[in-house]
Amino acid sequence: MNILDGKATAGKIKQRIAADLASLPEAVQRPQLAAVLVGHNGASETYVAAKVKACNEIGFGSKLIRFADNVSENELLACIQQLNEDNSVHGIIVQLPLPQHIDEQKVTMAVKVEKDVDGFHPENLGRLMLQLPGFVSATPKGILMLLEEYKIETSGKHCVVLGRSNIVGTPVSLLMSRNAFPGNSTVSLCHSKTKDLALLTKQADILIAALGRPQFVTAEMVKQGAVVIDVGITRVADTTTPKGYRIAGDVDFEKVAPKTSWITPVPGGVGAMTIAALMQNTYLAWQRITSSDATR
Ligand code: GUN
Repeated sequence: MNILDGKATAGKIKQRIAADLASLPEAVQRPQLAAVLVGHNGASETYVAAKVKACNEIGFGSKLIRFADNVSENELLACIQQLNEDNSVHGIIVQLPLPQHIDEQKVTMAVKVEKDVDGFHPENLGRLMLQLPGFVSATPKGILMLLEEYKIETSGKHCVVLGRSNIVGTPVSLLMSRNAFPGNSTVSLCHSKTKDLALLTKQADILIAALGRPQFVTAEMVKQGAVVIDVGITRVADTTTPKGYRIAGDVDFEKVAPKTSWITPVPGGVGAMTIAALMQNTYLAWQRITSSDATR
């Protein structure tokens, strides 16, 4: 068993960006990410704080715009419009989930395509499908960057994805099946209506678990020598920790790891790569906007 070290790989990616920026004259405007956070969802607070921290570490500017839970949809849309027009902002993210009374799709679609570093806008998702330049959402992109870093063979492999979310499962299925490296896998996208799930997971050369169900994947579900990517980051109650919770992945790491050839830990796996991929997207947005080059 070998560890796919997301923390170390993310560190290298962030260092490369920081070094690139450090070589620029001081007068050159740096990339800036604007993060919009609504309410006080604990997990969202943690994610956004980590994104802002990464910006500070590598020399990006950052703006954190907070709204109360009861913010109106119009107020939120007006804020996004302002950020779209702000020339000092190159990337915009609206942390999901949003409160029930706000139409998430409407908000996602309000973000200017060129600044949509989360890749959630329908145009960027269409671009991903057609392999046109655009923004690939951070978690799927981070997973592929990790496979690339460790030169994991994906061509001709059976990749089984658990979960069909718009943010992870569906885009990562597309990326793993397209004609590229990483890619060229035969993909099975499994979800809550899949029958005999274990029969499929046991055939997986590469298993990507993105259900958000702690320790769902057990040793019996995994083939000897498989590559296992754990996307789960769920808070579970744990009174032995100072915070009263710990972060659990979708995979029972202790039991599954010995059967695998490669596996991501939680934390220090996909989560760290998501942040690095977001930084790379923000850097890309800045390059495209400041050089008016949409082909990058
Ligand atoms: N909620 C869970 N994951 C993400 C993400 O990658 N971006 C945003 N904006 N919200 C999320």
